[in-house]
Amino acid sequence: MQELNILAKSTSDNLDLPRISSDTNDSFLLGKVYIESYGCQMNFADSEVVTAILINNGYGTTSNIQEADSILLNTCAIRDNAEQKIRHRLQTFKAIKSKNPKVVIGILGCMAERLKTKLIEEEKLVDLVAGPDSYRDLPNLLGQIENGQKAINVFLSKEETYGDIEPVRLHSNGVSAFVSIMRGCDNMCSFCVVPFTRGRERSRDLDSILDECQKLYEKGFREINLLGQNVDSYRWENPSTKELITFDKLISLTAQIHTDLRIRFSTSHPKDITNEVLYAMKKHSNICKNIHLPAQSGSNRILDKMNRTYTREWYLDRIRAIREILGNDCGISHDIIAGFCSEDDQDHQDTLSLLNEVIFDFGYMFTYSERPGTPAAKKYTDNVPLEVKSKRLQEIIDLQRKHSGIRNEQMINSIQKVLVEGNSKKSNQHHFGKTDNNKIVVFEKGSEKVGSYVDVKITACTTGTLLGHLNLTNT
Ligand code: 5AD
Ligand code: SF4
Repeated sequence: MQELNILAKSTSDNLDLPRISSDTNDSFLLGKVYIESYGCQMNFADSEVVTAILINNGYGTTSNIQEADSILLNTCAIRDNAEQKIRHRLQTFKAIKSKNPKVVIGILGCMAERLKTKLIEEEKLVDLVAGPDSYRDLPNLLGQIENGQKAINVFLSKEETYGDIEPVRLHSNGVSAFVSIMRGCDNMCSFCVVPFTRGRERSRDLDSILDECQKLYEKGFREINLLGQNVDSYRWENPSTKELITFDKLISLTAQIHTDLRIRFSTSHPKDITNEVLYAMKKHSNICKNIHLPAQSGSNRILDKMNRTYTREWYLDRIRAIREILGNDCGISHDIIAGFCSEDDQDHQDTLSLLNEVIFDFGYMFTYSERPGTPAAKKYTDNVPLEVKSKRLQEIIDLQRKHSGIRNEQMINSIQKVLVEGNSKKSNQHHFGKTDNNKIVVFEKGSEKVGSYVDVKITACTTGTLLGHLNLTNT
């Protein structure tokens, strides 16, 4: 019996639990592959594509690292600590490789793309390096290694979207799935390595997206997360009709698959999110009222140095539009970087005041980590001392925690439509699910099934979770 396993280690979202897939069966396997995934949701989605490619080409997979013929790490390069984690993990593979030198160790994803041959040269135990656009080549690369060579493909494509590949769902509870709608990024924020590791922006064809969503719905999935580095710049032209599909049209079309299928998306960019997108969200009740809108800083001077191409005022105007069109309950989350090059105390105060002005529901907060080769690394000095970065980050985190509490308290006594996702982590007498605006709700189980919708009356909250009970009179 072959098993498929991808351990998920998330750095920028709440997917911090290992996820293990169901087993696969095949008696004529070319080899058993074990995969671990790190980083953003895109990486998890990519690992599902990788798995499909491997299975379609005769490989099996295993959750037991000891019985793997190949160990693949799908990596993240966004901050130095993400890369350090991978290097550390590679050290633990040394023991496996010393016992069985035939085991193939492969690095996929952003770190593979960033470091290219260096990984093979420096990390002597790495046999395979495959960048994010080379996954179709993996069977061939694995074959090369069998012939005694090291294998590398870090070619970045302008077209690859893996649109025709049906991912093998790994990071899923059978209710919620990721669907990748585009790849790469053309934005060139000065701190960011992604344009170098994931290449130019390209949109996946509409038909394959709709087809994948439709099939997910038919399999019982009830929530789709449309993924892209910058979803608002989704653009696809129908080759026969020449109709241009923009992101607002894409979400409207996915929403029409079924009103019971919830649509979420990330990540939005403040310079690109249009009112048309907001009106499409308003029109379709199953497009969830939640927007992840990275701010990065509240200081215009820093935003300019980051090449974010918007100002604080522009950002606040987008927040105003979101609340005007979608109402105050719409969940809004942010990313903030503390201690970017030359950030002074006034810039930091501007970030805190932006948080105070918006009162976000949630945020992902980081200290700046210089990435070699990025515009910021070339042009600016990483001159904010680590202690200052960390102190500012802590102040931002503390303030955000307070705001998350305030936003959650505002929901007490309301009745929320919750999509049930599974047992609560702490008790199997309780279910958990998400509200429309992306808050986790824990409530005592009734007769409802995982994957169904229930009305829950919110009775209490922590800064991270809503607590409630089934509102049986309304179901
Ligand atoms: N240092 C710290 N945080 C970064 N991010 C991107 N690059 C860096 C970096 N060099 C953060 C941004 C982005 C999120 C995915 O990661 O906030 O929105
Ligand atoms: Fe990086 Fe900016 Fe692109 Fe996001 S929008 S992936 S931060 S370059």
